[in-house]
Amino acid sequence: MSKLYRFGVSLEKKLIDAFDSHIRKQNYQNRSEAIRDLIRNELVKKQWVGGGTVAGVIVMTYSHHKRELVSKMLDIQHDFQELVISTQHIHLSHHNCLEIIAAKGKAGKIEELAAKLKSLVGVKHVNLSISSLGDV
Ligand code: NI
Repeated sequence: MSKLYRFGVSLEKKLIDAFDSHIRKQNYQNRSEAIRDLIRNELVKKQWVGGGTVAGVIVMTYSHHKRELVSKMLDIQHDFQELVISTQHIHLSHHNCLEIIAAKGKAGKIEELAAKLKSLVGVKHVNLSISSLGDV
């Protein structure tokens, strides 16, 4: 573990009460853990907005019955093959499939991949979650 640094923070009572209530609901053990996560989230957001390299997961649900859809999805994934690390296909029901795509690369390119997949007919929902590469 890297060296820990301590610093003091002054907050208005109303703000610290709201923060303590928030961290209790989030099951944080203490304020330090919660503040570390807030800082990491801000740094990941900065990497994302700033076009840095990030890890991302695209979760999508789509109709199993649109046969040409799978072929189009695969074409798009091959177009972005430098980003796609892994995919998982799950048969959700007789009618619907779930696809999980793990990606690593420039945030803008991962967003472009998600947007292209979202635009396909038969896709019901696409969610993109961006995370850091673990270096913050
Ligand atoms: Ni399926």
